[in-house]
Formats: sequence, structure tokens, C-alpha cells
Amino acid sequence: MDPINVFDLEAIARERIPKEAWDYYASGAEDEVTLRQNRAAFERLSIAYRVMVDVSRRDTATSVLGHPVAMPVITAPTAFHRLACPDGELATARAAGAAGTIMILSTLSNTPVEDVVAAASGPVWFQLYIYKDRKASEGVVRRAEAAGCQALVLTVDAPLLGRRERDIRNRFRLPLGLAVANMLPEGYGEVPPAAADSGLAAYFATLLDPALTWGDVAWLRSITHLPVLVKGIVRPDDALRAAEAGAAGIVVSNHGGRQLDTSPATIDVLPEIADALSAHGHRVELLMDGGVRRGTDVLKALALGARAVLVGRPILWGLGADGEAGAAQVLRMLHDEFDLAMALAGATTVAEITRDLVWRARA
Ligand code: FNR
Ligand code: LAC
Repeated sequence: MDPINVFDLEAIARERIPKEAWDYYASGAEDEVTLRQNRAAFERLSIAYRVMVDVSRRDTATSVLGHPVAMPVITAPTAFHRLACPDGELATARAAGAAGTIMILSTLSNTPVEDVVAAASGPVWFQLYIYKDRKASEGVVRRAEAAGCQALVLTVDAPLLGRRERDIRNRFRLPLGLAVANMLPEGYGEVPPAAADSGLAAYFATLLDPALTWGDVAWLRSITHLPVLVKGIVRPDDALRAAEAGAAGIVVSNHGGRQLDTSPATIDVLPEIADALSAHGHRVELLMDGGVRRGTDVLKALALGARAVLVGRPILWGLGADGEAGAAQVLRMLHDEFDLAMALAGATTVAEITRDLVWRARA
């Protein structure tokens, strides 16, 4: 049967991707409570639609950090796309460009940033993990800039890797022939098996810097001319600190439920973060991710204060199901569902997606 929504593509991808890679993509931390809650929280929200609005013409387009996008959906940074299909991150870059949107490339990609930007027809942002070896991280920032990336996304919710128990059982490692391509020149390209752990957890514990503080945002800004976004925030006070540290944008995210289990669902914390930022007059770009699977989820996130959303696993499902065409199909499905949700909610532009569209039961 032809896939008609992203869950259909998930089912196809699950059949096609080797088990160890599937487990890595799918898993959350520990009991996967947050992984489930990210979805459940979206499902709990209702849309109080408006009627008798002329919706014969609709526009899903917006801009994110000044880049025009065809829809408020961009691709989240996820590691290791060549576990899903041979073209890996190149396929993602082409699909994002074809959909008229932005790709965020992970530090931990299987394809070097230069090749990804060369294959892209839209903007590419670079997600940064900072290594204990600061010279190496500075080097990778230089390369992202030289390649033509247009923003840096500093992930702040992973001082150590969360405990993904499927990966521990599998002793997850990168298969022969695949590397952390961006870090190969620095000597950090391999994710070997660990004795009694996820190889990636061991990689993080050995190489990544768990000592980051807000001062490091200032450090990062001092070494780059690119705008810096901070990804992985679930609290209003941290959002304010990020804005005060000069972040151009904030991604409300719990890393797709992969880091601290039982952290709150992102759509639940989004409105108070949006309110705190506007109460303090901060005009940072507010993005969110976690559990976005339907056009109605995109509409809810915008209503509750996000400028745009990021999608993580659905892109991997698309890649696993059918490579570039599958990733493109995911973005098309989300676009078409979002367009329909706008029509049925009585919004003809993204600016008309206001908070009153999300219904709240009175206590
Ligand atoms: C991620 N995520 C992630 N985030 C990041 O900043 N750098 C990274 O390298 C990765 N790698 C990664 C791998 C895989 C397999 C997944 C599923 C996720 C987190 C990602 O950017 C995003 O926050 C979540 O994926 C969003 O949740 P959904 O859309 O997957 O529910
Ligand atoms: C993950 C890391 C790489 O979630 O961000 O697997």
C-alpha cells in the first residue's frame, strides 16, 4: 500500500533499516517516558477552529532567521544518515531544498559539511557539539563557515549522552565504512564498540565537553560571525539566559526524549517560554521540536509561540523508506497536512495562527 502519512513511512523504514540502526534512531532514554509524552502532549491539545473565514487562498510560507521558507518546518539535526540510506545527508539536503526549507546538519554526520552544502539548494545550518579539544571544535566551526553554513545551532542538553538502553544492549557502534565525517581530520572520526555500553555514549563521555556553561556561548560568538542558536531548552529561566548570552534563536527541545527521561513534553513548556521571552522584550527566534508528526502539530506549535518546528525522526523514516524521495515525501506530507489544518482552522497565513486557536479546558 502507498504510504499516506509519516507513520506509514515509519513502518516501511522499520522493515528496511538494520535492527541496530533502527534501535538507535527510534530509542529514547531509559523508560522512554518523555519520548511518548512529546506525542501525547500534542494529542491532548485541541484546536478551536474558526469558521466562515474565506480560506480559498492560503500561504504556508514564513521566514526563519530571515531565510524565506515555504513552510514553518525545518529538518532537525540528527546523527548518521547513512545508517538509513547510502546517500545519507546528501539525500536530506536535496529533499530539504526541494521542499523550500532549511536543513540543520549534525556535527555527527556521515558526510562532510562541505559535500552537504554543495548538494543543498537551500540554507544549511550547522549543529555544533563542542569537544574537550576546543581547537578541534574551532576547526569545525571554521569549516562550517567556509562551506557556507548560515547559522550555528549549539546543542546544550547533552553534556553526556542519555541512557538509551536499546543501544546499550546492542553495544551500538558505527558500522565499518561509516565515520563521524566532520571530525575525521581531527582524529575523532570513529565510534568504536564499547565493552559494556553504547559506543556512542562512550564517545561522548571521552570526547565531548561536559563543562559547558553560558560563558561558552560568549566564547562561541567570539570566534564566529554566524548567528548562534541554542538548542535543548525546556525552562523559561534558561531561555532568558540564552537570550541574554546573545543567542539569535532558541530551540525548545528535549532531544526527542533521548537525554533526560521524564523531562517535560516540549509543547507543554513552549507557551511559558514564549511568554517569558516576550515579557523581557527579547526578540529571539523561537523554535521547537519533539513529536511533530502531523500538520496539526505544526499549527499548535505556532499557536503556542513557535516561529517554526524541527522534525527529527520522520526524516530518518523517509530516508530509510526511500532515500531522498522518501525524505521529500515526508516534507510534502507535513506541508500538505499543515495547509489543510490552516484551512480548516480558519487561518490563511501563518500570522493568523494565534494562541486562541489552542483550546484549553477551564479548571
Ligand atoms: C537526534 N537529535 C540530535 N540533536 C542534536 O542536536 N545533534 C544530533 O546529532 C542529534 N542526533 C540525533 C539522532 C537521532 C537518531 C535522533 C532521533 C535525534 C535530536 C534532534 O535534533 C531533535 O531534537 C529530535 O529528534 C526531535 O524529536 P523528534 O522529531 O525525533 O520527535
Ligand atoms: C543522539 C545524539 C548524537 O541523540 O545527539 O544520538
